[in-house]
Amino acid sequence: MSPTQQDQDQDHARLGDTSSSTSSSSQPQAATLSAPAPSTTTPLPSRCEKICLIGLGAIGISFLALHLTFSGAQISVYDPRADLDEHIAAILPLYLPATLSVDELRSQGRLRICASLDDALLGATIVQEQGPEKEVFKRDTWRAVVTKVARSCRLWSSTSGISASRQLEGFDDAAAGDGDEDGDLAASARQRLLIVHPFNPPHIMPLLELVPSPSTLPEEVEFAKQYFLALASGHRPIVIHKETKGFVANRLSFILFREACHLVNEGVVSVDELDEVMRASLGPRWAVKGVFEMYGFGGGSKGMRGFLDGIGSSIGELWDDAGDLDFKDEGWKDKVVKQTDEAYGLPTAQGIRARDAGLRAVVQCQERMDGAHER
Ligand SMILES: NC(=O)c1ccc[n+]([C@@H]2O[C@H](COP(=O)([O-])OP(=O)(O)OC[C@H]3O[C@@H](n4cnc5c(N)ncnc54)[C@H](O)[C@@H]3O)[C@@H](O)[C@H]2O)c1
Repeated sequence: MSPTQQDQDQDHARLGDTSSSTSSSSQPQAATLSAPAPSTTTPLPSRCEKICLIGLGAIGISFLALHLTFSGAQISVYDPRADLDEHIAAILPLYLPATLSVDELRSQGRLRICASLDDALLGATIVQEQGPEKEVFKRDTWRAVVTKVARSCRLWSSTSGISASRQLEGFDDAAAGDGDEDGDLAASARQRLLIVHPFNPPHIMPLLELVPSPSTLPEEVEFAKQYFLALASGHRPIVIHKETKGFVANRLSFILFREACHLVNEGVVSVDELDEVMRASLGPRWAVKGVFEMYGFGGGSKGMRGFLDGIGSSIGELWDDAGDLDFKDEGWKDKVVKQTDEAYGLPTAQGIRARDAGLRAVVQCQERMDGAHER
């Protein structure tokens, strides 16, 4: 067996450990979407990139694991949280393959944990922000960033809902303090900023919604797409055609979430019963085929037309009857929080491992299906 092959097989065996201590290399791989973690002897894509991650909360640390596992990029991170070191030590090893150690990544210079934003931005070719979901934070961050990085630097935001246009609203060269006569720093920032919206947790979930503003250059979108495809991590970047509140996946998810909260609030089902309804129905159904393709089957030989004509009136009645919760009302929130905490407790390391193993298994199963069937 060649050293490379051996490395990869060892990677496979160890990666299985993230979900179960009894995993072996002969079992389905659990640590990546489809590809094994890169071995030290495998050339890695994006070795030349220097990525600065701003904000290392739930999304930042998961993206960090993704870049560290599948790219050769050097990563610098900045987050002012007081418990940053403990947070990294507690969570990052859960997300990395066992072949990668945080201490080694730091000593090799693959990972730099920086005490200031300026330090983290040094030499950055890509800046990816996942700080607080506040417009003022995004605006202030980009103002600080663009004056300190090269004009070729890619600008990506992980925001769940603040469009690239809004993040740079009111941004002009005077605001940026750009004294350079041939500057036009603000216009250049607009051409480079796009949303790279992940689905949590991004080190596993394949979807990346790439959402440009009308000013973003097509080549910036293409670069982001090619970067993630080149990782061979199984990620599926999808370009969204128009800036819309919440993009696409969250619009679908949060509307469903509202109805779920409404049904619990009305006492129709409990939190855990609703979860089981979901897992036994829409979960597997939509993992196999998407919304439209699947409902097309519901219309028999007439497809979608048959489906809409057949049960359209029931659909219309349900749309009219959908729950309309007020987000300022704490009553339904208390009910949902209490039931969720009682049913599941708060997230633990063991829970995260189980979630990740389950998600990986489903995604890998989906990939096998897609490979096995003509679409
Ligand atoms: N949580 C999700 O499911 C999810 C999914 C997709 C996208 N997002 C988006 O990702 C972003 C981050 O979300 P999250 O859930 O990771 O939030 P989070 O609260 O877990 O993390 C935010 C991090 O930003 C840090 N921060 C605060 N001020 C900062 C500053 N000045 N500079 C750098 N870092 C700073 C905080 O210390 C924290 O660690 C948001 O824009 C959110 O909309 C979240």
